[in-house]
Amino acid sequence: MATRSIAIDGPAGAGKSTLAKSLAKELGFLYVDTGAIYRTVGLYAEKCGKDAGNPQEVVPLLKEISLRLTHEADGMQHMYLQGEDVTEEIRQNRVSRYASQVSAMPEVRAFLLEMQRSLAREHNVVMDGRDIGTVVLPQADLKIFLTASAQQRAKRRHGELSMNGGHVPFQQVLEEILVRDEVDRTREIAPLYQAEDAVLLDTSELNLEESLQAMRSMVKESLHL
Ligand code: DC
Repeated sequence: MATRSIAIDGPAGAGKSTLAKSLAKELGFLYVDTGAIYRTVGLYAEKCGKDAGNPQEVVPLLKEISLRLTHEADGMQHMYLQGEDVTEEIRQNRVSRYASQVSAMPEVRAFLLEMQRSLAREHNVVMDGRDIGTVVLPQADLKIFLTASAQQRAKRRHGELSMNGGHVPFQQVLEEILVRDEVDRTREIAPLYQAEDAVLLDTSELNLEESLQAMRSMVKESLHL
């Protein structure tokens, strides 16, 4: 039977992962966080003592990297790097920068493309990222482009980091978000943009439940679920 897929793209901090995860749970779909895969590649570069911003140092690592993505019974996605569970480690703030750097490399994107597509062939998925609706799953049943103002997104990311024990000043989080947005939007390969057939959802003024409600309506309309 053909699988169903929902693509959720948008900039950092728009609420993609929280919303995508909740939606997947409600629908009984697999939640796939593709940012986590790029983060794992970025972390590997660091562990190998390489410069994550230098393709000449990163690309050769693709031959030896062992990446595994699993889902626990509760639907939580875990990332394994060379057999080690790095699910928590990849959430650290410095890894965001490495992920953004390696994700601008065509070789890295090509390397990860099939991994993402095969998940969508095998399961009904809610997949979140930057290029899911535009590149990875252009045939997705529903594409949502989630966004929010940079201030709001920085506020949310700052809250997340503080909850995880990080002590990063708000201003730094905001600046990092602006830089990362710029890099993700202007890179040559798979830049972040809204697919023509994606529905825009701006969550600046919406709380989680309101955002989720809006997404439920979209699902109902597009997937008749
Ligand atoms: O969603 P995130 O913050 O965990 O993503 C980390 C980085 O990975 C982000 O800078 C953009 C990049 N990324 C990407 O280029 N394509 C994706 N599908 C997902 C993430």
